Amino acid sequence: MAEEHATLSNLSTENRSFPPSDEFAAQANATADWYDRADADREVFWAEQAERLHWERKWERVLDWDAPFAKWFVGGRLNVAYNCVDRHVEAGYGEQVAFHWEGEPGDTRTITYADLQREVCKTTNALIELGVGEGDRVAIQLPMIPEAVFSMLACARLGAMHSVVFGGFSPGALKARIEDAEAKLLITSDGQYRRGKPAPMKANTDEATAETPTIEHVLVVKRTEIDVPWTDGRDIWWHEIVDKQSEEHTPEAFDAEQPLYILYTSGTTGKPKGILHTAGGYLTQCAYTHNVVFDHKPGESVYWCTADIGWVTGHSYIVYGPLANRATSVMYEGTPNTPHEGRHWEIIQKYGVSIYYTAPTLIRTFMKWGTDIPAKYDLSSLRVLGSVGEPINPEAWMWYRENIGGNNCPIVDTWWQTETGAIMISPLPGVTAAKPGSAMRPLPGISAEIVNDAGEPVGHGNGGYLVLDEPWPSMLRGIWGDEERYRETYWSRFAEQGYYFAGDGAKYDDDGAFWLLGRVDDVMNVSGHRISTTEVESALVSHPTVAEAAVVGASDATTGQGIVAFVIMRGNVAQDEAKGADAIKALRDHVSKEIGPIAKPRQIMVVDELPKTRSGKIMRRLLRDVAENREIGDVTTLADSSVMDMISAGLQDSSRSED
Ligand code: WTA
Repeated sequence: MAEEHATLSNLSTENRSFPPSDEFAAQANATADWYDRADADREVFWAEQAERLHWERKWERVLDWDAPFAKWFVGGRLNVAYNCVDRHVEAGYGEQVAFHWEGEPGDTRTITYADLQREVCKTTNALIELGVGEGDRVAIQLPMIPEAVFSMLACARLGAMHSVVFGGFSPGALKARIEDAEAKLLITSDGQYRRGKPAPMKANTDEATAETPTIEHVLVVKRTEIDVPWTDGRDIWWHEIVDKQSEEHTPEAFDAEQPLYILYTSGTTGKPKGILHTAGGYLTQCAYTHNVVFDHKPGESVYWCTADIGWVTGHSYIVYGPLANRATSVMYEGTPNTPHEGRHWEIIQKYGVSIYYTAPTLIRTFMKWGTDIPAKYDLSSLRVLGSVGEPINPEAWMWYRENIGGNNCPIVDTWWQTETGAIMISPLPGVTAAKPGSAMRPLPGISAEIVNDAGEPVGHGNGGYLVLDEPWPSMLRGIWGDEERYRETYWSRFAEQGYYFAGDGAKYDDDGAFWLLGRVDDVMNVSGHRISTTEVESALVSHPTVAEAAVVGASDATTGQGIVAFVIMRGNVAQDEAKGADAIKALRDHVSKEIGPIAKPRQIMVVDELPKTRSGKIMRRLLRDVAENREIGDVTTLADSSVMDMISAGLQDSSRSED
């Protein structure tokens, strides 16, 4: 496995390390002794972390572990929304800003905790009027506007589950998620701003809900004034039903294991997995990690996580973790280059952002745009910088440190997944001497290992598979409606040892620090977004001209991986026509329409054959060699060894596009 990762040799020479300043270390929320304290008694440690929250009834046991099913804080009762909102108001912080919201066109909203409480209560009352109750599923497809947060918290307050679907996903993708969860309500908006222009949203969601009988109502936020199609009786304007509601609602405490949300993520098959998270353990670990990893100081820090609310990072580190910790956050609606490439730095300067959490793909984009752009802004308010979503290369790490962090901000490279719910492996900013590109070590209370095929620890200096060998509070509780797939996907690979298999390759350096090396399964990571090769293949073969398709993730200097597709056209399609730029563009657009623009292949190559083993399995390894312009590896297991020569020979004709 390790030899598939060309970056491995570069990484092993990295020996710079950056300890926190004495000044930072002296005021840090977490100190070095936390590791030993957590190791000494993990359950006592996690119980202490759970004390960060308000429990209506305290738990009887910290953990019931009947692998692979965990229950945390057994018997405890709490309300997640109360913990994120009301208790801060009751404690006298109603006037503290919860969100500095910045719209893409430049409009702004300042939302205090008291405002948030009123908005969440009104939204909750509106959901009740629409018949939403405990255990119901609510689908949400919204841009980055405050109503997205109100909606999520209103669901949590009612014990209903939200299923947030990224705004860039296609109607087909939304439909599949609504169907799988049997959602009864969809919350969406008329349109969304994209690069300065309003684009339709409701028109797309209407396509999705045309055949979803479980949807009883569609609640529509007016954001852009764009024209919308309307179904009387089913569709309701947000302002018409929410604005008139009472600003009060008494929250009910639910069991610690009350389902909180479903979030779909790509797996190795075409069907996305509905990852299930529950209330108490999830909120505990979100709050704990947000506090120690970002060294967050309530009432002082100004925190900005640039993720979209449609991804897990938005759930855990825009909504649940920060609000549980009484954070003052920036929330930004738009793209980083609207209206200019300094927008992020302008926002940091404007609000005095002290903690900035973003993705490597964006850092590399900033590098490309040029160092002179951030240099024009005052970024001296920054104290901690975070990275998430994909491995961060040492060059990008150093650039981030020097040009954004002014050489004096600790960088936390945080490894985690939709499934883990919260950060698992990361430096502690006041403790760890961080190495550029390494997530360093599991947080206090978390246990991880790197093992070989047989499940044995590989030891320092070696690579293998990343596993989690102890349960953790914010772990997924399953895949919605599919227990078998849950066991199979995460727990079968190292069943004997009882390890959770993360699907990532990793390496220990000589000091035992963790270096993440990317996915080892058929999941690609494009700009920090997980997309399965099978999903894109299915989209391609659903086009009338395509007979067969194979998709690989090839390394890409900006997006981490880029999607490269090899397609065989149907017999009746003339070859010249098939390879033409128009035909290739049509295929790329087709994938974009089927899944969403994030899944658009970077490159499509038309071939006559695909490399397959004698059992018919496509050898993606060889296609990756082609896609990454490498010499082609061992072909002896191919059913027809001449296939690769044919593919290589045909490549001059293939087309690549860059939009
Ligand atoms: C990758 C995002 C290296 C990894 C929170 C993981 C990372 C997948 C890092 C989860 C990191 C995330 N270093 N790789 N710091 N963070 N990944 O579910 O492959 O969208 O399995 O969750 O992203 O992606 P997901």
